[in-house]
Amino acid sequence: MSNEEHMDRREFLKRALATGAAVAGTRFALSPTRAEEVADAGKSGKKVKVGIIGCGSVSRHYLRDLSASPFVELVSCCDRIYDRAKQAAAEYKVPHDYPNIGEMLAGAQFDLLVNLTDMQEHYRLNKEGLRAGKHVWSEKPIAANYEQGMELLELAKKRGVRLWGAPTVVTSPQFAFMAKTLAAGTLGRLAAAHASYGHLGPNWSPFFYEEGGGSLPDLGVYNITTLTGLLGPAKEVAAIISIVTPTRDIRGKTIKVEAEDNAMLVMDHGNSVLSHVQCGFNYFTPFEHDATQQSHHTIAIIGTGGSMHLAGYDWAPQGVDLATQEQPKFQRHASDTGKYTWQYGASHVAECLATGKESLMTPEQAVHVAEIIHAANESQRTGKRITIRSSFKWPIIG
Ligand SMILES: NC(=O)c1ccc[n+]([C@@H]2O[C@H](COP(=O)([O-])OP(=O)(O)OC[C@H]3O[C@@H](n4cnc5c(N)ncnc54)[C@H](O)[C@@H]3O)[C@@H](O)[C@H]2O)c1
Repeated sequence: MSNEEHMDRREFLKRALATGAAVAGTRFALSPTRAEEVADAGKSGKKVKVGIIGCGSVSRHYLRDLSASPFVELVSCCDRIYDRAKQAAAEYKVPHDYPNIGEMLAGAQFDLLVNLTDMQEHYRLNKEGLRAGKHVWSEKPIAANYEQGMELLELAKKRGVRLWGAPTVVTSPQFAFMAKTLAAGTLGRLAAAHASYGHLGPNWSPFFYEEGGGSLPDLGVYNITTLTGLLGPAKEVAAIISIVTPTRDIRGKTIKVEAEDNAMLVMDHGNSVLSHVQCGFNYFTPFEHDATQQSHHTIAIIGTGGSMHLAGYDWAPQGVDLATQEQPKFQRHASDTGKYTWQYGASHVAECLATGKESLMTPEQAVHVAEIIHAANESQRTGKRITIRSSFKWPIIG
Protein backbone atom coordinates (compact mmCIF):
# COMPACT_ATOMS: atom_id res chain seq x y z
CA MET A 1 0.00 0.00 0.00
CA SER A 2 1.41 3.34 -0.94
CA ASN A 3 0.23 5.04 2.23
CA GLU A 4 0.91 2.42 4.84
CA GLU A 5 3.51 2.64 7.51
CA HIS A 6 6.15 0.04 6.84
CA MET A 7 8.35 -1.46 9.52
CA ASP A 8 10.90 -4.20 9.81
CA ARG A 9 10.22 -7.53 11.48
CA ARG A 10 11.80 -6.59 14.77
CA GLU A 11 9.68 -3.42 15.03
CA PHE A 12 6.61 -5.42 14.06
CA LEU A 13 7.22 -7.96 16.81
CA LYS A 14 7.89 -5.20 19.30
CA ARG A 15 4.63 -3.49 18.39
CA ALA A 16 2.71 -6.71 18.18
CA LEU A 17 3.90 -7.71 21.62
CA ALA A 18 3.26 -4.33 23.18
CA THR A 19 0.40 -4.62 25.58
CA GLY A 20 -2.11 -1.86 26.04
CA ALA A 21 -5.75 -1.30 26.75
CA ALA A 22 -8.28 -0.25 24.23
CA VAL A 23 -7.53 3.42 24.51
CA ALA A 24 -6.02 5.87 22.10
CA GLY A 25 -2.65 4.88 20.75
CA THR A 26 -2.51 1.26 21.81
CA ARG A 27 -1.82 -1.77 19.63
CA PHE A 28 -2.95 -5.28 20.23
CA ALA A 29 -0.72 -8.03 21.42
CA LEU A 30 0.00 -11.13 19.47
CA SER A 31 1.36 -13.86 21.68
CA PRO A 32 5.12 -14.34 21.01
CA THR A 33 4.46 -17.64 19.27
CA ARG A 34 1.67 -16.18 17.19
CA ALA A 35 3.62 -13.04 16.25
CA GLU A 36 6.68 -15.11 15.30
CA GLU A 37 4.44 -17.46 13.38
CA VAL A 38 2.75 -14.80 11.24
CA ALA A 39 5.96 -12.86 10.60
CA ASP A 40 7.73 -16.09 9.65
CA ALA A 41 4.82 -16.94 7.42
CA GLY A 42 5.37 -13.66 5.58
CA LYS A 43 9.06 -14.37 5.15
CA SER A 44 8.61 -17.94 3.99
CA GLY A 45 5.80 -17.05 1.62
CA LYS A 46 3.26 -19.00 3.67
CA LYS A 47 -0.26 -17.69 3.44
CA VAL A 48 -2.79 -16.52 6.00
CA LYS A 49 -5.60 -19.06 6.20
CA VAL A 50 -8.96 -17.34 5.84
CA GLY A 51 -12.46 -18.43 6.83
CA ILE A 52 -15.42 -16.39 5.56
CA ILE A 53 -18.73 -16.17 7.38
CA GLY A 54 -21.63 -14.60 5.49
CA CYS A 55 -21.80 -15.54 1.80
CA GLY A 56 -24.30 -12.92 0.63
CA SER A 57 -24.05 -9.85 -1.55
CA VAL A 58 -20.77 -8.33 -0.35
CA SER A 59 -18.99 -11.68 -0.17
CA ARG A 60 -18.76 -11.81 -3.96
CA HIS A 61 -16.55 -8.70 -3.93
CA TYR A 62 -14.46 -10.09 -1.07
CA LEU A 63 -14.05 -13.54 -2.57
CA ARG A 64 -12.83 -12.10 -5.86
CA ASP A 65 -10.32 -9.89 -4.03
CA LEU A 66 -9.17 -12.57 -1.56
CA SER A 67 -8.75 -15.18 -4.32
CA ALA A 68 -6.32 -12.86 -6.08
CA SER A 69 -4.20 -12.16 -2.98
CA PRO A 70 -0.77 -13.82 -2.72
CA PHE A 71 -1.09 -13.59 1.09
CA VAL A 72 -4.32 -15.57 1.38
CA GLU A 73 -5.35 -19.20 1.38
CA LEU A 74 -9.13 -19.51 1.42
CA VAL A 75 -10.00 -22.37 3.77
CA SER A 76 -13.70 -22.20 4.55
CA CYS A 77 -17.02 -20.57 3.72
CA CYS A 78 -19.91 -20.48 6.16
CA ASP A 79 -23.50 -19.23 5.90
CA ARG A 80 -26.60 -20.07 7.86
CA ILE A 81 -28.28 -20.34 4.46
CA TYR A 82 -26.06 -23.34 3.83
CA ASP A 83 -26.57 -23.40 0.04
CA ARG A 84 -24.87 -20.00 -0.15
CA ALA A 85 -21.79 -21.33 1.64
CA LYS A 86 -21.68 -24.37 -0.63
CA GLN A 87 -22.11 -22.26 -3.75
CA ALA A 88 -19.41 -19.76 -2.77
CA ALA A 89 -17.03 -22.58 -1.84
CA ALA A 90 -17.63 -24.35 -5.16
CA GLU A 91 -17.23 -21.18 -7.22
CA TYR A 92 -13.99 -20.09 -5.55
CA LYS A 93 -12.57 -23.57 -4.96
CA VAL A 94 -12.66 -23.21 -1.17
CA PRO A 95 -12.20 -26.71 0.32
CA HIS A 96 -14.56 -26.49 3.33
CA ASP A 97 -18.10 -25.19 3.87
CA TYR A 98 -20.23 -24.98 7.00
CA PRO A 99 -23.79 -24.01 8.01
CA ASN A 100 -22.89 -22.26 11.29
CA ILE A 101 -20.01 -20.65 13.19
CA GLY A 102 -19.72 -23.50 15.72
CA GLU A 103 -18.99 -26.09 13.05
CA MET A 104 -16.72 -23.69 11.21
CA LEU A 105 -14.58 -22.97 14.28
CA ALA A 106 -14.44 -26.68 15.14
CA GLY A 107 -13.61 -27.60 11.54
CA ALA A 108 -10.62 -26.94 9.28
CA GLN A 109 -8.00 -24.72 10.92
CA PHE A 110 -7.72 -21.09 9.77
CA ASP A 111 -6.13 -17.85 11.07
CA LEU A 112 -8.39 -14.97 10.02
CA LEU A 113 -12.17 -14.87 10.34
CA VAL A 114 -13.75 -12.56 7.77
CA ASN A 115 -17.19 -11.56 9.02
CA LEU A 116 -19.56 -10.48 6.23
CA THR A 117 -22.87 -11.15 7.93
CA ASP A 118 -25.86 -8.96 8.86
CA MET A 119 -24.74 -6.00 10.98
CA GLN A 120 -26.81 -7.23 13.95
CA GLU A 121 -24.64 -10.39 14.02
CA HIS A 122 -21.23 -8.72 13.91
CA TYR A 123 -20.54 -8.37 17.63
CA ARG A 124 -21.60 -11.93 18.51
CA LEU A 125 -19.67 -13.59 15.69
CA ASN A 126 -16.59 -11.35 16.12
CA LYS A 127 -16.59 -12.37 19.76
CA GLU A 128 -16.86 -16.06 18.96
CA GLY A 129 -14.00 -15.76 16.49
CA LEU A 130 -11.74 -13.92 18.94
CA ARG A 131 -12.59 -16.36 21.70
CA ALA A 132 -11.51 -19.20 19.44
CA GLY A 133 -8.14 -17.47 18.92
CA LYS A 134 -8.83 -16.19 15.39
CA HIS A 135 -7.81 -12.79 14.06
CA VAL A 136 -10.96 -11.01 12.92
CA TRP A 137 -11.83 -8.70 10.03
CA SER A 138 -15.39 -7.45 10.46
CA GLU A 139 -17.65 -5.66 8.02
CA LYS A 140 -19.07 -2.47 9.48
CA PRO A 141 -20.03 -1.74 12.13
CA ILE A 142 -17.63 -3.74 14.31
CA ALA A 143 -20.18 -3.82 17.18
CA ALA A 144 -23.43 -2.09 18.12
CA ASN A 145 -22.21 0.21 20.89
CA TYR A 146 -19.32 1.29 23.11
CA GLU A 147 -19.63 -1.55 25.64
CA GLN A 148 -19.64 -4.26 23.00
CA GLY A 149 -16.75 -2.62 21.17
CA MET A 150 -14.61 -2.32 24.29
CA GLU A 151 -15.33 -5.93 25.15
CA LEU A 152 -14.05 -7.02 21.73
CA LEU A 153 -10.90 -4.89 22.10
CA GLU A 154 -10.17 -6.42 25.50
CA LEU A 155 -10.88 -9.92 24.28
CA ALA A 156 -8.53 -9.51 21.30
CA LYS A 157 -5.82 -8.32 23.66
CA LYS A 158 -6.41 -11.17 26.06
CA ARG A 159 -6.37 -13.80 23.34
CA GLY A 160 -3.31 -12.31 21.64
CA VAL A 161 -5.01 -11.85 18.28
CA ARG A 162 -5.76 -8.90 16.01
CA LEU A 163 -9.06 -7.23 15.22
CA TRP A 164 -9.98 -4.81 12.42
CA GLY A 165 -13.21 -3.37 11.07
CA ALA A 166 -14.41 -1.92 7.76
CA PRO A 167 -14.44 0.57 6.14
CA THR A 168 -11.03 0.94 4.51
CA VAL A 169 -11.41 4.66 3.72
CA VAL A 170 -8.42 5.86 5.79
CA THR A 171 -6.08 3.82 3.58
CA SER A 172 -6.91 5.62 0.32
CA PRO A 173 -4.36 7.97 -1.30
CA GLN A 174 -7.06 10.67 -1.28
CA PHE A 175 -7.45 10.34 2.50
CA ALA A 176 -3.65 10.56 2.82
CA PHE A 177 -3.59 13.73 0.70
CA MET A 178 -6.32 15.38 2.78
CA ALA A 179 -4.70 14.35 6.08
CA LYS A 180 -1.31 15.71 4.97
CA THR A 181 -2.89 18.95 3.72
CA LEU A 182 -4.55 19.44 7.11
CA ALA A 183 -1.35 18.58 8.97
CA ALA A 184 0.55 21.16 6.90
CA GLY A 185 -1.93 23.86 7.96
CA THR A 186 -2.78 24.63 4.32
CA LEU A 187 -6.44 25.33 5.16
CA GLY A 188 -5.55 27.88 7.86
CA ARG A 189 -7.67 27.70 10.99
CA LEU A 190 -9.87 24.66 10.50
CA ALA A 191 -13.58 25.26 11.14
CA ALA A 192 -16.00 22.85 9.53
CA ALA A 193 -16.58 19.79 7.40
CA HIS A 194 -19.53 18.19 5.68
CA ALA A 195 -20.05 14.71 4.22
CA SER A 196 -22.99 13.10 2.48
CA TYR A 197 -23.82 9.59 1.28
CA GLY A 198 -27.13 8.13 0.23
CA HIS A 199 -29.00 5.99 -2.26
CA LEU A 200 -32.43 4.41 -2.45
CA GLY A 201 -31.58 1.63 -0.02
CA PRO A 202 -30.63 -2.06 -0.33
CA ASN A 203 -33.44 -4.26 -1.64
CA TRP A 204 -32.00 -7.72 -0.96
CA SER A 205 -32.05 -8.19 2.83
CA PRO A 206 -34.38 -6.93 5.58
CA PHE A 207 -31.68 -6.46 8.26
CA PHE A 208 -30.74 -3.03 6.87
CA TYR A 209 -34.18 -1.78 8.05
CA GLU A 210 -34.54 -3.77 11.28
CA GLU A 211 -33.55 -2.74 14.80
CA GLY A 212 -29.78 -2.30 14.85
CA GLY A 213 -29.70 -1.46 11.13
CA GLY A 214 -30.18 1.88 9.41
CA SER A 215 -28.43 4.26 7.05
CA LEU A 216 -25.87 5.34 9.67
CA PRO A 217 -24.24 1.89 10.17
CA ASP A 218 -24.57 1.08 6.47
CA LEU A 219 -23.68 4.40 4.77
CA GLY A 220 -22.87 7.14 7.29
CA VAL A 221 -20.23 4.84 8.76
CA TYR A 222 -17.91 5.67 5.82
CA ASN A 223 -18.23 9.43 6.30
CA ILE A 224 -17.89 9.19 10.10
CA THR A 225 -14.69 7.18 9.67
CA THR A 226 -13.32 9.71 7.16
CA LEU A 227 -14.22 12.79 9.21
CA THR A 228 -13.00 11.46 12.57
CA GLY A 229 -9.90 10.24 10.71
CA LEU A 230 -9.24 13.72 9.32
CA LEU A 231 -10.46 15.98 12.14
CA GLY A 232 -9.83 13.78 15.16
CA PRO A 233 -12.00 11.76 17.54
CA ALA A 234 -15.44 13.24 18.29
CA LYS A 235 -15.99 14.55 21.81
CA GLU A 236 -19.75 15.07 21.54
CA VAL A 237 -22.44 14.36 18.98
CA ALA A 238 -26.03 15.41 18.33
CA ALA A 239 -28.36 13.98 15.75
CA ILE A 240 -31.85 14.07 14.37
CA ILE A 241 -32.91 10.93 12.56
CA SER A 242 -36.18 9.84 10.98
CA ILE A 243 -37.95 7.19 8.94
CA VAL A 244 -39.04 8.49 5.54
CA THR A 245 -40.30 5.19 4.08
CA PRO A 246 -42.15 3.16 6.73
CA THR A 247 -42.40 -0.08 4.75
CA ARG A 248 -40.16 -1.71 2.15
CA ASP A 249 -40.57 -4.55 -0.29
CA ILE A 250 -37.70 -6.98 0.12
CA ARG A 251 -37.65 -10.06 -2.08
CA GLY A 252 -41.42 -10.02 -2.54
CA LYS A 253 -42.21 -9.47 1.15
CA THR A 254 -43.37 -6.19 2.73
CA ILE A 255 -41.45 -5.37 5.89
CA LYS A 256 -41.89 -2.64 8.49
CA VAL A 257 -38.91 -0.24 8.68
CA GLU A 258 -37.72 -0.02 12.30
CA ALA A 259 -34.32 1.67 11.92
CA GLU A 260 -33.72 5.22 10.68
CA ASP A 261 -33.47 5.71 6.93
CA ASN A 262 -32.66 9.43 7.11
CA ALA A 263 -29.99 10.88 9.40
CA MET A 264 -28.35 14.23 10.21
CA LEU A 265 -25.41 13.99 12.58
CA VAL A 266 -23.25 16.79 14.00
CA MET A 267 -19.87 16.01 15.60
CA ASP A 268 -17.75 18.22 17.83
CA HIS A 269 -14.10 17.31 17.31
CA GLY A 270 -12.81 19.72 19.97
CA ASN A 271 -10.94 22.98 19.42
CA SER A 272 -14.22 24.42 18.03
CA VAL A 273 -14.05 22.20 14.92
CA LEU A 274 -17.48 20.90 13.88
CA SER A 275 -18.53 18.47 11.19
CA HIS A 276 -21.78 17.21 9.74
CA VAL A 277 -22.72 13.89 8.16
CA GLN A 278 -25.95 13.29 6.29
CA CYS A 279 -26.98 9.91 5.00
CA GLY A 280 -30.12 8.06 4.02
CA PHE A 281 -31.89 5.37 2.06
CA ASN A 282 -34.16 7.85 0.22
CA TYR A 283 -31.58 9.65 -1.89
CA PHE A 284 -32.09 9.59 -5.61
CA THR A 285 -28.84 9.15 -7.49
CA PRO A 286 -28.67 8.70 -11.25
CA PHE A 287 -25.87 6.13 -10.86
CA GLU A 288 -27.36 3.92 -8.13
CA HIS A 289 -24.45 1.84 -6.76
CA ASP A 290 -22.08 2.51 -9.65
CA ALA A 291 -19.35 4.49 -7.91
CA THR A 292 -17.30 4.91 -11.09
CA GLN A 293 -19.96 7.28 -12.48
CA GLN A 294 -20.22 9.26 -9.28
CA SER A 295 -17.77 12.11 -9.52
CA HIS A 296 -19.44 14.93 -7.61
CA HIS A 297 -18.05 16.16 -4.30
CA THR A 298 -19.23 14.20 -1.25
CA ILE A 299 -16.94 15.69 1.39
CA ALA A 300 -15.96 19.31 2.08
CA ILE A 301 -13.36 20.48 4.61
CA ILE A 302 -13.22 24.21 5.21
CA GLY A 303 -10.86 26.56 7.07
CA THR A 304 -9.99 30.24 7.06
CA GLY A 305 -7.25 29.81 4.47
CA GLY A 306 -8.58 27.14 2.15
CA SER A 307 -11.22 24.63 1.21
CA MET A 308 -10.83 21.02 0.14
CA HIS A 309 -13.44 18.82 -1.60
CA LEU A 310 -13.35 15.09 -2.22
CA ALA A 311 -14.62 14.03 -5.65
CA GLY A 312 -16.48 10.72 -5.62
CA TYR A 313 -17.42 8.71 -2.56
CA ASP A 314 -14.83 8.37 0.21
CA TRP A 315 -14.95 4.58 -0.34
CA ALA A 316 -14.37 5.07 -4.09
CA PRO A 317 -12.52 8.40 -4.27
CA GLN A 318 -11.49 10.04 -7.53
CA GLY A 319 -9.45 13.03 -6.42
CA VAL A 320 -9.28 16.04 -4.14
CA ASP A 321 -10.00 19.61 -5.29
CA LEU A 322 -8.17 22.23 -3.27
CA ALA A 323 -8.30 26.03 -3.29
CA THR A 324 -6.40 28.28 -0.90
CA GLN A 325 -5.88 31.99 -0.38
CA GLU A 326 -2.57 31.67 -2.26
CA GLN A 327 -4.07 29.43 -5.00
CA PRO A 328 -7.76 30.48 -5.19
CA LYS A 329 -8.43 28.50 -8.39
CA PHE A 330 -9.43 24.89 -7.51
CA GLN A 331 -6.85 22.34 -8.51
CA ARG A 332 -7.28 18.57 -8.65
CA HIS A 333 -4.88 16.45 -6.55
CA ALA A 334 -4.50 12.76 -5.72
CA SER A 335 -6.25 11.40 -8.82
CA ASP A 336 -4.44 8.07 -8.64
CA THR A 337 -6.14 5.52 -6.40
CA GLY A 338 -3.25 3.03 -6.53
CA LYS A 339 -4.02 -0.40 -5.05
CA TYR A 340 -6.80 0.97 -2.85
CA THR A 341 -10.30 -0.51 -3.13
CA TRP A 342 -13.17 -0.50 -0.64
CA GLN A 343 -13.40 -4.29 -0.77
CA TYR A 344 -9.73 -5.09 -0.10
CA GLY A 345 -9.94 -4.84 3.71
CA ALA A 346 -9.59 -8.56 4.42
CA SER A 347 -6.74 -9.16 1.96
CA HIS A 348 -5.08 -5.96 3.23
CA VAL A 349 -5.07 -7.18 6.84
CA ALA A 350 -3.99 -10.67 5.69
CA GLU A 351 -1.02 -8.96 4.04
CA CYS A 352 -0.35 -7.12 7.32
CA LEU A 353 -0.44 -10.40 9.23
CA ALA A 354 1.83 -12.12 6.74
CA THR A 355 4.41 -9.38 6.33
CA GLY A 356 4.34 -7.44 9.60
CA LYS A 357 3.16 -4.22 7.96
CA GLU A 358 0.86 -2.17 10.16
CA SER A 359 -2.44 -0.94 8.74
CA LEU A 360 -3.68 2.62 9.15
CA MET A 361 -7.02 1.12 10.17
CA THR A 362 -7.32 0.48 13.89
CA PRO A 363 -9.98 -1.36 15.86
CA GLU A 364 -10.04 1.59 18.28
CA GLN A 365 -11.30 3.87 15.51
CA ALA A 366 -13.85 1.25 14.40
CA VAL A 367 -15.17 1.11 17.99
CA HIS A 368 -15.22 4.92 18.16
CA VAL A 369 -17.33 5.04 14.99
CA ALA A 370 -19.68 2.36 16.38
CA GLU A 371 -20.11 4.43 19.55
CA ILE A 372 -20.95 7.55 17.48
CA ILE A 373 -23.61 5.66 15.52
CA HIS A 374 -25.18 4.41 18.72
CA ALA A 375 -24.93 7.92 20.23
CA ALA A 376 -26.77 9.40 17.24
CA ASN A 377 -29.72 7.13 18.02
CA GLU A 378 -29.45 8.09 21.70
CA SER A 379 -29.45 11.76 20.78
CA GLN A 380 -32.65 11.30 18.81
CA ARG A 381 -34.25 9.33 21.67
CA THR A 382 -33.30 11.82 24.41
CA GLY A 383 -33.19 15.10 22.48
CA LYS A 384 -29.73 15.70 23.96
CA ARG A 385 -26.10 15.92 22.92
CA ILE A 386 -24.20 12.74 23.78
CA THR A 387 -20.66 12.65 25.16
CA ILE A 388 -18.36 10.17 23.38
CA ARG A 389 -16.12 8.07 25.63
CA SER A 390 -13.91 6.20 23.18
CA SER A 391 -10.95 7.54 21.27
CA PHE A 392 -8.16 6.37 18.96
CA LYS A 393 -4.63 7.27 18.00
CA TRP A 394 -4.75 10.46 15.98
CA PRO A 395 -3.54 11.90 13.68
CA ILE A 396 -3.58 8.77 11.57
CA ILE A 397 -1.20 10.36 9.04
CA GLY A 398 1.08 13.35 9.38
N1 LIG B 1 -23.70 -5.59 -0.22
C1 LIG B 1 -22.77 -4.64 -0.35
O1 LIG B 1 -22.50 -4.12 -1.46
C2 LIG B 1 -21.99 -4.18 0.85
C3 LIG B 1 -20.92 -3.31 0.65
C4 LIG B 1 -20.13 -2.95 1.74
C5 LIG B 1 -20.43 -3.45 2.98
N2 LIG B 1 -21.50 -4.28 3.18
C6 LIG B 1 -21.77 -4.80 4.53
O2 LIG B 1 -21.60 -6.21 4.52
C7 LIG B 1 -22.45 -6.84 5.48
C8 LIG B 1 -23.31 -7.87 4.77
O3 LIG B 1 -24.10 -7.22 3.78
P1 LIG B 1 -24.66 -7.98 2.50
O4 LIG B 1 -25.19 -6.93 1.62
O5 LIG B 1 -23.66 -8.93 1.98
O6 LIG B 1 -25.87 -8.78 3.16
P2 LIG B 1 -26.51 -10.16 2.66
O7 LIG B 1 -27.80 -10.31 3.36
O8 LIG B 1 -26.49 -10.20 1.18
O9 LIG B 1 -25.45 -11.24 3.21
C9 LIG B 1 -25.31 -11.54 4.56
C10 LIG B 1 -25.14 -13.05 4.68
O10 LIG B 1 -24.79 -13.37 6.02
C11 LIG B 1 -25.48 -14.56 6.37
N3 LIG B 1 -25.57 -14.63 7.84
C12 LIG B 1 -26.18 -13.75 8.68
N4 LIG B 1 -26.03 -14.12 9.96
C13 LIG B 1 -25.30 -15.26 9.94
C14 LIG B 1 -24.81 -16.12 10.95
N5 LIG B 1 -25.09 -15.90 12.23
N6 LIG B 1 -24.10 -17.19 10.59
C15 LIG B 1 -23.84 -17.44 9.28
N7 LIG B 1 -24.28 -16.67 8.27
C16 LIG B 1 -24.99 -15.58 8.60
C17 LIG B 1 -26.82 -14.45 5.70
O11 LIG B 1 -27.47 -15.70 5.56
C18 LIG B 1 -26.43 -13.82 4.35
O12 LIG B 1 -26.15 -14.80 3.38
C19 LIG B 1 -23.25 -5.69 6.10
O13 LIG B 1 -22.61 -5.28 7.27
C20 LIG B 1 -23.19 -4.57 5.06
O14 LIG B 1 -23.33 -3.29 5.63
C21 LIG B 1 -22.28 -4.67 2.13
